[in-house]
Amino acid sequence: FVLFFFFKVDREQSKGGDETGLNGILLSCVNTTTFEVVKQITSSVGPWGTWTPIQWCPGGFLSTFCLCVEPKQGNEDDTAADNIIFGCTVPHIVMGNGLERGLYGAWSDTCTEGINGINIRLEKPKGIGDDTSVNDVLFNCA
Ligand SMILES: *[C@@H]1O[C@H](CO)[C@@H](O)[C@H](O)[C@H]1NC(C)=O
Repeated sequence: FVLFFFFKVDREQSKGGDETGLNGILLSCVNTTTFEVVKQITSSVGPWGTWTPIQWCPGGFLSTFCLCVEPKQGNEDDTAADNIIFGCTVPHIVMGNGLERGLYGAWSDTCTEGINGINIRLEKPKGIGDDTSVNDVLFNCA
């Protein structure tokens, strides 16, 4: 099996300069012989942005991550969570296709059997006002 991941990212500043960064994550477990999707999970998904190209670990599974979060910008446009770097169960790091507006936090604990669940804290659209969409991310270990 190989675990593919995709991010939904808003980099448009389409809404009057209001960019929201990370809007969702999709994990897809695929049989490498048949390319059949064996299992797919999607986080809660925000309304903005588009799905970025497929990414994956070259072997093994996703085992740890580091979240890029933009600190509060006061009256300026905030995006909150923007990107994730994943560590694989084989020695390899994959940089997500998100934005580079924030700062990377500490690496999460390592899932020795890989990551198999996503839990996202999503800010609801505010209508008028600065939207940020994804604010925090938790992964479950297999
Ligand atoms: C992938 O699919 C093939 C054909 O259905 C199956 O024989 C094989 O066991 C599958 N691979 C894994 C790792 O399950």
